[in-house]
Amino acid sequence: MKSEEYKRRGHRKPNECMRAIVTIIVGIVFGFFIGVSFPAFSPPKLKLIPPIDTYLGDKNSGRSTQTILNVISVTRDNVSTDARKIDDPSLIYVSSNPRGAERLPPAILASESDFFPRRLYGKPSEDLTFKPKYLVTFTVGYNQKDNIDGAVKKFSDNFTVLLFHYDGRTTEWNEFEWSKRAIHISVPKQTKWWYAKRFLHPDIVAPYDFIFIWDEDLGVENFDAEEYIKLVKKHKLEISQPGLDPSSKGLTWQMTKRREDLEVHKETEEKPGWCSDPHLPPCAAFVEIMAPVFSREAWRCVWHLIQNDLVHGWGLDFALRKCIEPAYERIGVVDAQWITHQGVPSLGNQGKEENGKAPWEGVRERCKNEWKMFQDRVAKAERDYYKSVGIGSTDHDANWVTPDRIQ
Ligand SMILES: *[C@@H]1O[C@H](CO)[C@@H](O)[C@H](O)[C@H]1NC(C)=O
Ligand SMILES: *[C@@H]1O[C@H](CO)[C@@H](O)[C@H](O)[C@H]1NC(C)=O
Repeated sequence: MKSEEYKRRGHRKPNECMRAIVTIIVGIVFGFFIGVSFPAFSPPKLKLIPPIDTYLGDKNSGRSTQTILNVISVTRDNVSTDARKIDDPSLIYVSSNPRGAERLPPAILASESDFFPRRLYGKPSEDLTFKPKYLVTFTVGYNQKDNIDGAVKKFSDNFTVLLFHYDGRTTEWNEFEWSKRAIHISVPKQTKWWYAKRFLHPDIVAPYDFIFIWDEDLGVENFDAEEYIKLVKKHKLEISQPGLDPSSKGLTWQMTKRREDLEVHKETEEKPGWCSDPHLPPCAAFVEIMAPVFSREAWRCVWHLIQNDLVHGWGLDFALRKCIEPAYERIGVVDAQWITHQGVPSLGNQGKEENGKAPWEGVRERCKNEWKMFQDRVAKAERDYYKSVGIGSTDHDANWVTPDRIQ
């Protein structure tokens, strides 16, 4: 996106440029004048650079000085509120409101939501006799119905159940009693992370203490969700997953393998050379993407880390730790409540045959490419950040390991 902005800037006509520059200079001078005439607002709070940058990046360059002044003043905590009060005290403008809602009185703002169904009649205050505290989502195809039926029964009424349907079949699920109280979202042939990014915005899932974002091919005979939550709370895990039974398909990492002697583990030993630092993935601060559980706070960060175009989420597991501090203490595997990974090929078979390659091959190739792309983006973003604050390259992610995960 940024590079497009730069391109647009590069292609701007010279007289437009001139006009923009003059407007900006007038804006800065005027803004400064307004600034010094309100001594209560200390100079360090002035953030001139970002709004001007934003303004330059915008393709509508023919803006007035007043617009620029507004952009500048909005970034100064309460300046705009007060400046407007002088202008016209009857206009509401609260700069601490969420972006775009500045004209509303704060008390009317409903900036978070939920998945609680309501009645169409009666008093709204009496709609909800009970509010589930946790959320569990499964990304499902109807072929896995028995497995999902078994899994859902391991989650008590304290859970909202949300199914993402990738095969377009939703009404068939009504054979299950629990399906009537579940939320169903149906978009054909999308991945778990695609759905999560679109439908699990942190402000939408804000009421839930914990969010389970699970695959459909998990065996849960030895799992109980309420017991799991107890352990997660006891060990203060912000991001976790149940241990994987050693019989699981495609068990790649030691970290996620169930340890019979423990309740929870947060670190492990890997193959020689895989962990340059015992506190870093895949030896610690690491869970896989098949059955993660996030606290509300952790999800608020992780949601932002999920890229819109990298739909398979490969490599995300290595970056989760960037959301938690210290990650090696707050990310862990719950051994006392464990699952098996059945490795059923499902969505992986929903690819497209291309150049004589089977559908699943194309999907696998994309998974690996996405992993590399994600890794590069994270590394570049960190480099850019450290450069912008004047710290040299720290090479944080030089030691990501990326062995082939499909055997
Ligand atoms: C901004 O306004 C809020 C609420 O009126 C107040 O609590 C806060 O201290 C103000 N901030 C500054 C920097 O004046
Ligand atoms: C739901 O949560 C409450 C409060 O934590 C707990 O007392 C209750 O046992 C839970 N329900 C089930 C079915 O576990």
